[in-house]
Amino acid sequence: MKTDMKKLESAELKIGKKILNLDVYEGALEERCIDISKLRQETGYITYDPGFGNTGIASSDITFVDGEKGILLHRGYQIEDLAANCTFIEVAYLLIFGKLPNQEERLAFSASLNANSMLHEDMRQFFSNYPEHSHPMAVLSAMVVSLSTFYPEIEDESESIHLTVTRLLSKMRTIAAFSYKKSIGEPVRQPSWKYRYCENFLSMMFKSPVNNYQIDPIVERALNLFLVLHADHEQNCSTTVARAVCSSGANLYASIASGVCALWGPLHGGANQGVIEMLEKILAGGIKPSDIIEAAKRKDSKLRLMGFGHRVYKTYDPRAKLAKQSCVDLLNHLGMQDDPLLDIAMELEQRALTDDYFIEKHLYPNVDFYTGIAYRAMGIPKNMFTVMFAIGRLPGWIAHWLEMKADREQRIVRPRQIYVGKNVLPFVKIENR
Ligand code: CMC
Repeated sequence: MKTDMKKLESAELKIGKKILNLDVYEGALEERCIDISKLRQETGYITYDPGFGNTGIASSDITFVDGEKGILLHRGYQIEDLAANCTFIEVAYLLIFGKLPNQEERLAFSASLNANSMLHEDMRQFFSNYPEHSHPMAVLSAMVVSLSTFYPEIEDESESIHLTVTRLLSKMRTIAAFSYKKSIGEPVRQPSWKYRYCENFLSMMFKSPVNNYQIDPIVERALNLFLVLHADHEQNCSTTVARAVCSSGANLYASIASGVCALWGPLHGGANQGVIEMLEKILAGGIKPSDIIEAAKRKDSKLRLMGFGHRVYKTYDPRAKLAKQSCVDLLNHLGMQDDPLLDIAMELEQRALTDDYFIEKHLYPNVDFYTGIAYRAMGIPKNMFTVMFAIGRLPGWIAHWLEMKADREQRIVRPRQIYVGKNVLPFVKIENR
């Protein structure tokens, strides 16, 4: 809200003979904005900003990103510190409730996640009716919105909010694992009180009546880290979509389900699947990494170097740095240090980072570049990669939904446009067309 920002000297905008004074504000870490909320009312003009690259849609105290310096903070804590010291559940608590949990709060949160982790028996039936090979992101979004038919909408009392968000956090992981089991024709596994959040996910994914899958603590730790790295990233596409849906008054489940759909696209969360498909294509086709780099640079080619580039980061994505290290450590631990896909990824990175095109456009590896290689080593199939991103991003979506609800300045999201179509035409009856 404006009251949370510092007011600076105003800016002047001259349109023809009219001069408009616009308020200028500064956030906590020197980000500045010009308030144009009265622009149309006072001048008849609107701003034109496809992709909202220059538009601040809210003030927020959840996450800070400095894309030039490669800094990422959640509620003031550096991503490097959170990654080294916290479980995903602690980071989820931090994002949603605004502070790191103490021992007692963490235990209570874990107990609540455990108590709410099972899916309603009737929901289990839904999984049987999707065609074989359904993409798990389609199933996930449908199941998340279906939760609203089983559980009451969020109420304003804090206890009810606590219950609803805990329920969603816990059940989303169960839905994700169920959708995988269904896709391979195996019986689903319910979560168990014995396991922590990530252990439970691995157990639901990989244990079966004929496979006593042992949970490797190093794999669990890597999974925790990847979820932490995805937990929030301020006004990214899926969060903005979830906020837009929230702005119409829609419930939490509906808003999050639409966030899942937005995440699915290959330019956003779907990029992690896109990276592996690109690496596999290079490997299977014996393609030279240098040819892919050249193709990605050509204006006439549709190809982009997947897992590279970011709207905000103009330097190395700090999440990608942590993901790369964890991926290499994990593959070493699993005896997969000679993974040819890792070799190709490293060569692509090294070539891109020394290529003028990528240097001039500030294109660096983003969070999706190395995560897929690690998920693959864990045994997670590639059509589940974006689901992993969604599980990780859920606390961020929830935190933004709650923040938006509490922000008295927020209105229904309803941008304008510049119409370039036809002027009024005389109507032609169907028999004369
Ligand atoms: N490979 C080749 N060229 C690229 C790439 C790439 N990966 N990314 C951007 N460019 C070029 C682009 O062609 C454009 O060139 P020009 O100015 O000559 O037209 C310039 O760099 C700026 O790109 P843009 O598309 O205008 O930038 P954007 O901020 O709108 O898009 C992006 C950001 C992430 C969608 C884009 O970099 C991209 O498509 N990357 C590949 C997909 C990807 O890895 N997505 C994951 C994003 S990070 C995780 C997440 O938040 O979801």
